[in-house]
Amino acid sequence: MHEFVRHECRQLQQALHGHPLQTYSAPLQACMRQGWQQVFAHGDWPRWQEALQHLPTDAGNDYDLARDCVCVGPDRDDAGQRKWLMQLHPWRKGPFRFFGTLIDTEWRSDWKWQRLQPYLPDLSGQFVLDIGCGSGYHLWRMAAAGATAIGIDPTALFSAQFALFKRCLSQQPVFYLPVGIEAMPTAMQAFDTVFSMGILYHRRAPIDHLLQLHELLRKQGTLVLETLVIEGDAEQCLMPAGRYAKMRNVWFIPSVPMLAIWLQRAGFRDIRCVNVCSTGTDEQRRTDWMTFESLADFLDAGHPQRTIEGYPAPRRAIILARR
Ligand SMILES: C[S@@+](CC[C@H](N)C(=O)[O-])C[C@H]1O[C@@H](n2cnc3c(N)ncnc32)[C@H](O)[C@@H]1O
Repeated sequence: MHEFVRHECRQLQQALHGHPLQTYSAPLQACMRQGWQQVFAHGDWPRWQEALQHLPTDAGNDYDLARDCVCVGPDRDDAGQRKWLMQLHPWRKGPFRFFGTLIDTEWRSDWKWQRLQPYLPDLSGQFVLDIGCGSGYHLWRMAAAGATAIGIDPTALFSAQFALFKRCLSQQPVFYLPVGIEAMPTAMQAFDTVFSMGILYHRRAPIDHLLQLHELLRKQGTLVLETLVIEGDAEQCLMPAGRYAKMRNVWFIPSVPMLAIWLQRAGFRDIRCVNVCSTGTDEQRRTDWMTFESLADFLDAGHPQRTIEGYPAPRRAIILARR
């Protein structure tokens, strides 16, 4: 795996060569190295590493990243493969098909991509950043659309899941920094498009998060913001008194008009909400690949339009804005 990290750093350096992001090549590589050190220091790393050692490392030309179910590698008849993939449980964001095994993740992340794809700028040739990219599912979709995609996420397991795929697709311009947004160099002003999906409600200082997104984008660059919202007017925002849908780390859930004000005050323009929808138990659910509690357990069984705590059930908006 140390060779994997060295390869990733070299490839990132080459990818950034000649681009305004080149100025940040060294600090980004440092984030990558330090992030992977944290992953290797995680108590579960030996188990994940054992799984990685038993799974294929090269897909050759046999992959399809443009499909809803991101496919990597030819089908192979190996009864043991499923066991090793399960050693990277829980699988939250996907779906994937890995050398013939369907990884039916908790989330149908392809549905989110379908909702936002019609509104995306042309990603071909763009340098894009996906903040809180999880296993990297959306990074592969961005690469399929022609982008050089950099994802950041501090959750060690998701980094290991990403590494499983990147080893097989080593020439793809897709990079993963196993760090939180706090570790990113500030004021880069260089990304063409920045994605912040499923992040804003987890931030204690949401306006600071929006300001940071603004500073990551080049002038005229596009923000794709996907987050929880409530119904309501420009004066409404929910701050849960405790947990929201059993999550301890949900801080602010604004109405769409209030979110537009936040964005405007953070310096964004051309703010438009392109989609609002309720999250259903067919989009986020327990599967063989994520056997813990899921959305159905977080809703009030008698009133599924409410969370178990009595708050409005999850409703998500996609907002596009420009720097
Ligand atoms: C709700 S998930 C969203 C995943 C994906 N973006 C999506 O929309 O499906 C939130 C993600 O944010 C990551 N995360 C947590 N703290 C973070 C931080 N400080 N900076 C960046 N990502 C973070 C989590 O590990 C998790 O993968």
